[in-house]
Amino acid sequence: VVSEQVKGFQNISHYSDYQPLLSSSRICERWDEQFLLSGLADVLSFLCEESSDANFFSMTKKLAADYFAVATKEYFMAMALILAHRNIQGSSPNPCVGCVYVKEGKVVGMGYTQSYGGLHAERHAYENVSSAQSLCGAEAYVSLEPCCHHYSWKSGQKITREPCAVFLHRLGISKVNVAILDPDQQVSGGGVQHLLDCGIAVQVGLLKQSAQRLLWRYILHRKRVKQGTKRNITIGLKWAQSLDGRLAAPSGQSQWISSPSSLIYSQWLRYVYDGVMVGAGTFINDRPALSLRHPFCVRKSVAKVKKIIFDPQFRTLRFDKFQDHYRHMKDNAEVYWIGRKDMSEEATKLARMQFPSEERHCVMSIWDPDQPLQHLFENDRFLQITSKSMSLLVEGGPRLHNMLIGADVVDFLHIVTAPLWLGGKHEVCPSGPVLPHDLDHPPYYSLIHHQRFGQDLLSEYAHTHHKTFL
Ligand SMILES: NC(=O)c1ccc[n+]([C@@H]2O[C@H](COP(=O)([O-])OP(=O)(O)OC[C@H]3O[C@@H](n4cnc5c(N)ncnc54)[C@H](OP(=O)(O)O)[C@@H]3O)[C@@H](O)[C@H]2O)c1
Repeated sequence: VVSEQVKGFQNISHYSDYQPLLSSSRICERWDEQFLLSGLADVLSFLCEESSDANFFSMTKKLAADYFAVATKEYFMAMALILAHRNIQGSSPNPCVGCVYVKEGKVVGMGYTQSYGGLHAERHAYENVSSAQSLCGAEAYVSLEPCCHHYSWKSGQKITREPCAVFLHRLGISKVNVAILDPDQQVSGGGVQHLLDCGIAVQVGLLKQSAQRLLWRYILHRKRVKQGTKRNITIGLKWAQSLDGRLAAPSGQSQWISSPSSLIYSQWLRYVYDGVMVGAGTFINDRPALSLRHPFCVRKSVAKVKKIIFDPQFRTLRFDKFQDHYRHMKDNAEVYWIGRKDMSEEATKLARMQFPSEERHCVMSIWDPDQPLQHLFENDRFLQITSKSMSLLVEGGPRLHNMLIGADVVDFLHIVTAPLWLGGKHEVCPSGPVLPHDLDHPPYYSLIHHQRFGQDLLSEYAHTHHKTFL
């Protein structure tokens, strides 16, 4: 059955086409959709700890045991999925993957993808196997199909490495349980096929929806690369609103709308997205830091999270408190200003005024308002600054959100609704110009997740294009 599926996978071009194949597979579907996300608070709580890998591994076992009374296949795969969280940021733009080796019903090795260019989960888990232990006859649980290509990248250099599928065969693994196939065009079922060709049993699809939810940025990115679309960055919007749908009080204040536990979730979102963007209004009104402050965020290399200010007329650079707001935002992350193409002279003058020479290149006149907004995300300079990024989180304000939704470039919405009423005429989301589409065909989103954070309600939506997540 699996072999037929693999042939099917090699002939299809869209990731969503995998679905009928996966659901026809002989997998155990005793999976609870809310598994990882409702457990997210637990996952976060132990990611917070500056813990060693050994500590992390024992927490992983404990967490999985909380969900599964007995050591089933799902239990081991759940561990692999939790392990994958360990380096969700650092592994980007590679996928974060977890791996568990099980022999005679006991976990003998655990690992996760190391930072970009480092060891894949299968090898890292092997490094953690006690030296006396042979893996001959053991089973492997991996949250993503093992790779079948002979290289990876480190600091822009190609490094020749044995593919993980070959590695697992050399270890003598008897069965490989895979949550989802790798949508990357270099793999796409090739890893599973190699294992099958070597006589290793393979099961595909165990806890597949949890794995899809974990890897949504990666899946969409590889799907777009496969389709050859120039814009391959995933865009998510995040905002906090009142019960009456307002993003700010009439005074313009908005930063206190949601509760502290929702704010932790906001930190998590910043952590998992590769970049953060806000509009000029938000930069001026809110003096946002856009930083990763929570302990689980500072654990790993976070300098990669880029900060982008969308400011068509570069009015923030003329703002009298610019330096104060900029210093508040400046840490070791790169900050960029994006504005209109036809304002490049003005932008150069303003950049000269506000920045020392080495920082001036961060002001980019690349947006052409006469072109559809999606062209911005296909612009060569935009692609250059986001070349290692799969995703961008736009944190407001409402006018920028409105523009992006109107241009139909938004993949995910993360909305926190707090139980308060703000009133006032303005700041309703989305506000701003009339959306450029008729009411018969508005951009449509489907609810994919909701959760309470204290008194707040988190609701998350995916664009209806993305059937994989629905
Ligand atoms: N509750 C929340 O989660 C949340 C989050 C963020 C912000 N906020 C609140 O939102 C407010 C600020 O939001 P905002 O909507 O005023 O500003 P904004 O969204 O931060 O900034 C909008 C930017 O987009 C540009 N823009 C928007 N529509 C455009 C169009 N059709 N053509 C060209 N440029 C366009 C604006 O250009 P111009 O410079 O030309 O105007 C401006 O630079 C603040 O009160 C803040 O506290 C709330």
